[in-house]
Amino acid sequence: MRFLKAIMYVRTVHYRDWRNLAETSAAFSPGINVLWGMNAQGKSNILEGIYFFARGRSFRGVRERELVRFGADFARASLAFRREGFEEDTVLDAVLPLAGKKRLAKNGAPLSATAEMLGLFRAVLFTPANLAVVTGGPAERRLFLDIALSQISGDYLACLRRYTRLLAERNALIRRAADGGSPSQEEWTVYAEGMAEYGARIAGYRRGYVSLLASAVSRYFAGMTGGREVPGLEYRSHALSDGVPDLLTDPARPADGGALLEKLTANREREIAAGTTLWGTHKDDVILTLNGADARAFASQGQQRSLVLSMKLGEAEIARQIGGEYPVILLDDVFSELDEERRRYILDSLSGDGRDADGEPRQILITSCEPDVIPGARAENVAFLRVSGGGVGE
Ligand SMILES: Nc1ncnc2c1ncn2[C@@H]1O[C@H](COP(=O)(O)OP(=O)(O)OP(=O)(O)O)[C@@H](O)[C@H]1O
Ligand SMILES: [Mg+2]
Repeated sequence: MRFLKAIMYVRTVHYRDWRNLAETSAAFSPGINVLWGMNAQGKSNILEGIYFFARGRSFRGVRERELVRFGADFARASLAFRREGFEEDTVLDAVLPLAGKKRLAKNGAPLSATAEMLGLFRAVLFTPANLAVVTGGPAERRLFLDIALSQISGDYLACLRRYTRLLAERNALIRRAADGGSPSQEEWTVYAEGMAEYGARIAGYRRGYVSLLASAVSRYFAGMTGGREVPGLEYRSHALSDGVPDLLTDPARPADGGALLEKLTANREREIAAGTTLWGTHKDDVILTLNGADARAFASQGQQRSLVLSMKLGEAEIARQIGGEYPVILLDDVFSELDEERRRYILDSLSGDGRDADGEPRQILITSCEPDVIPGARAENVAFLRVSGGGVGE
């Protein structure tokens, strides 16, 4: 499935009154870039700004006006990125005022909505908050899949939107029935059939994705632990039969929603009593194990971190395989809690010019408190940027 050789990389960023970054510019190279400096200097704020252009919002899940530097009226960020083989940068600008609407632009021309910006610049981010993918509930793992899949499949995103809307409408129908209303048989049928159809497609994509992810994660674990720890990832669907096909590698296959349709038809009274839809892909999960034991309950902190980190690196590889282009990899505070062996393996697998196991080039931006996270010979070809007091230097 390899058609193109391409990476996307950040060339420069410029911030004004963005968090603690009063007026700051930085230039990055393809390959590995280490943003280093003491605590509270602005390293994560720089990554937050870059990731803003990929997701249209802060990864910290805060309101936009919290990104405005204390005492300022607006925050401004601008990102220039380039695709390999192209001569020109694409420049994205964001202006977030304390009051009023945010303004986005591409190459100087205003974008009318965040949705127009999404997909232009692609990045995969690891932050310590992502440990919730292992330690949190099923919603965290579904969100991981939804974000990853939406970036590589427009069809997945369309199915997810339709499904989410049908689910909200069906829940309203259930509440109406619970309040003594009597929705028509036709209404029940329309929602059950729609949810079954899109739910089956969603599950088909997720199942295909999880099996690709599982092989990437296994490879990272084999390297990090010398084969001592064997991870398992399995997509578990409460509503769909085991025979759901892998749609990720074969989107043309029809997905069979029969099992979900039956659940949604046969259990209406229970759903009315519960006041909500009890079956469907909004209940599914990814079961994560290490040496066969549930990772959520039994994994150590270092193991949890290793698991999430390898899932993220796998996410970038899959985006490359399916979408043809390597997203920029942003790793915030990735090395704390990892022992020497794991660190070394991750560094080796990221080393030099950042190429992956297949020799594909990538751009990786890592934050760290010390510059010597990448020691000795491995530091060749690595760009170091010192972050201090909201500014970036050499
Ligand atoms: N809106 C804001 N205005 C001004 N300063 C802010 C704003 N939001 C956050 N800060 C400050 O920015 C500083 C840098 O935060 P950041 O998270 O980037 O640090 P860091 O370099 O990643 O540190 P660490 O190594 O501890 O992770 C913090 O001191 C924080 O209080
Ligand atoms: Mg930080």
